[in-house]
Amino acid sequence: MEKIVIEGGNELRGEVKIGGMKNSALPIIYATILVQEECIIENVPMVSDVINSLEILRQMGACAEFIEDDKIKINTKYLSSEIKGYDKISKMRASSYLMGTMLARFNKAFLPMPGGCNFGVRPIEQHLKGFEALGATTSEEEGFVSINVSNHLKSTKITLDKISVGATINIVLASVFLDGETIIENVAIEPHVDDLICFLNISGAKIVRKGRKIYVNGVKRLHGATYKIYPDMIESLTYMTFVGAARGDITLFGVNYEHIRFCADIFMGMGYKIENKGDMVRVTVSKTLDGTSVVTLPYPGFPTDLHPQFAALLCFTRSGGIIKEEIFPSRFAYVNELKKMGAKISREESTAHIFPSQIYGADIDATDLRAGASLVCAALGANGKSTIKNVNYIVRGYQDITSKVSLIGGKIKLIKGD
Ligand code: UD1
Repeated sequence: MEKIVIEGGNELRGEVKIGGMKNSALPIIYATILVQEECIIENVPMVSDVINSLEILRQMGACAEFIEDDKIKINTKYLSSEIKGYDKISKMRASSYLMGTMLARFNKAFLPMPGGCNFGVRPIEQHLKGFEALGATTSEEEGFVSINVSNHLKSTKITLDKISVGATINIVLASVFLDGETIIENVAIEPHVDDLICFLNISGAKIVRKGRKIYVNGVKRLHGATYKIYPDMIESLTYMTFVGAARGDITLFGVNYEHIRFCADIFMGMGYKIENKGDMVRVTVSKTLDGTSVVTLPYPGFPTDLHPQFAALLCFTRSGGIIKEEIFPSRFAYVNELKKMGAKISREESTAHIFPSQIYGADIDATDLRAGASLVCAALGANGKSTIKNVNYIVRGYQDITSKVSLIGGKIKLIKGD
């Protein structure tokens, strides 16, 4: 079992290269199922969810591999129509993209309920409602989802009851080859939704997003393409919380500032100094920050995937703040771990009140990906040594986190074994 050990209290100074967006890489990897020719995807983060998704495709008969540190080659020409790799699928939310892609290519999909990070129920009824509107029949039984088409799928108009990244992406994927125009309303507009649409269009699809509506005009086939994934906005913002907790002066490279502008404005309101030029963002924190309050909302609102790291950051501020979680109401597993480090947090239903706290090193457990990142944030600003267990959650989404943090002066080590 790997552990991360951090000796806190050192200012962070230097440069961090931000990788490609995990939440774009995953749907794009599954979208290659529609292409059936060689695809080269660049700026792909080498994180465990990506590695496991490539493994699932290989088990199904595709060629899918890293050909450079951040570049993958995939060809799904000889993909089996049976989904394989059940153990990996049931542990990863993004494997739900097998539903839309297998439906589009083989008119059927049978797979275990997709898993994912451990913060409460993550339903898929909006995905299934979309597939049914296109003419599929769906059923869920004993932990498996079955989707079939008795006649053929038809383009139509679908309005999501709830804004969902996964359902938006899955319905787009399922509609790529349908005759006529599929219109999807009340869609998620996260940058990773646009990233997937760009990849599909470069491969020959005809998809346009206008505000919260997506228009998919069916095409007969897609062709192989080379595509570069957007920078990871959550990785960029996470490193910004690290420098807020530990203080210092870091420069992030490979950032899309438009994607993080909303949060950067909040950081500046707290006392951060932030300068942006092209894909470079310099972040300086030299004094105690002011607290603030946020509500997580679909993009362009405050991202739920930054909630735990932001809670850790608020502990180090003059006045603390309140975080109201509107996307995943039980995303609070980090609270008990931060409390072990001295954090003063009270939780009431889906709201956390975070008070200014003296944070000290402790033995703590990462309970999910972003909760793990919040512990790294707290440990970097803490007094003394912290040991973080369950590092497997953190490496699902942060490539080379220990070397990136070390390069900016954080005293961090990855310890293999018990
Ligand atoms: C994706 C991201 C995840 C991020 C989340 C919200 C990936 C692999 N994961 O997850 O990191 O935290 O977006 O930005 O890209 N919901 C339903 N019914 C459904 C689908 C969703 O009620 O059928 C609800 C969810 O419980 C949640 C909300 O809708 O309350 C948003 O979920 P969704 O956007 O679908 O999240 P994911 O796509 O699973």
